[in-house]
Amino acid sequence: MPLFNVYPLYDVTPVKAKGVYVYDENKTEYLDLYGGHAVISIGHAHPKYVEAITNQVAKLGFYSNAIQNPLQVKLADKLEALSGCKDYELFLCNSGAEANENALKLASFKTGKSRVVAFKNGFHGRTSAAVAATDNKSIIAPINAQQKVTILDLNDIDAVKTELEKGDVCAVILEFIQGVGGLDQATAEFFEQVDILCKTNNTFLIADEVQSGYGRSGKFFAFQYYNVTPEIVSIAKGMGNGFPIGGILIHPSIEAKFGMLGTTFGGNHLACAAGLAVLDVIEEQKLIENVNEMSCYFMKIAKTIPQIKKIKGRGLMLGLEFDFEVGDLRKKLIYDYHIFTGGAMNKKLLRILPPLTVRKDHINQFFEALVDILD
Ligand SMILES: Cc1ncc(COP(=O)(O)O)c(C=O)c1O
Repeated sequence: MPLFNVYPLYDVTPVKAKGVYVYDENKTEYLDLYGGHAVISIGHAHPKYVEAITNQVAKLGFYSNAIQNPLQVKLADKLEALSGCKDYELFLCNSGAEANENALKLASFKTGKSRVVAFKNGFHGRTSAAVAATDNKSIIAPINAQQKVTILDLNDIDAVKTELEKGDVCAVILEFIQGVGGLDQATAEFFEQVDILCKTNNTFLIADEVQSGYGRSGKFFAFQYYNVTPEIVSIAKGMGNGFPIGGILIHPSIEAKFGMLGTTFGGNHLACAAGLAVLDVIEEQKLIENVNEMSCYFMKIAKTIPQIKKIKGRGLMLGLEFDFEVGDLRKKLIYDYHIFTGGAMNKKLLRILPPLTVRKDHINQFFEALVDILD
């Protein structure tokens, strides 16, 4: 049976990975500055992570959400401690889209409203309401288009006010640093005004931290750079370091009701073991400090390269903008220099999303290759 052909593929076949490196079937070593799309947080095959998953699957890999699962409680407690999201409650699921889908559903249940406000170049996943709130018409099928979504310009606070005051908006969903769109960020004033408008109009603010969360921005969550209190925070990617796990953090003012949300696989024992190992390593190896240190180092070198027109993003969620499309540059980096990088909807942007364990010598390796190609 052939695979349904939805992905344009690079001709590389990884069979093994360790730390910041990936290896193909010929043992060629690739530097991973893409992190499998911002997923690898603590590094590939981290020994603590491998041990935790191996031990757990040998004991109990899965049971349903109908029984006590102390690993979920342990994960929620550790997440609260490391994220500083005091008293938020946790609902576990399996992916970023599913996290946003549940966030939007909860906002609609609780406010009794159904329209969503989202932003230009935003990306929230490929399921029903999540894809409708994504600013990319080519991935919205007619069945998704029946959702009521209004897409506004980032920083247009008057438009947000006008829409929220109509009284039918259940949620404003936004990325504090846009990922797929190309690393744009609104102003602090805009984010903080949106938060106030949400509070005064019975609208939930959903922080989509699927990509920017878990330390990638240089804080545990990117929204923590601002004076805002999201009702819901969605998480996935770095949470499992490759193991499929997602979730939403829910503000203590929002009460749960049996049956309101649910899932078969979400929060299973194996996923929790992976999620706990990730948090332990983030804490023990002080990875958020490393993110900030490596981010400064990266930016300092990037500023010395004249062909780079703009450096975007924060922490290790970075973008280099050129005055040409970067498709060929990415190919050269992969095939000639064995370095993975990312692209964006903005075709002139090269995205850098390494494991949070990246070191100066890896960054040097990238810039030596980049300068060689550009010269
Ligand atoms: C900000 C953001 N939200 C949601 C998603 C969807 O996550 P998933 O692919 O796990 O469904 C992504 C994926 O790239 C993302 O970057």
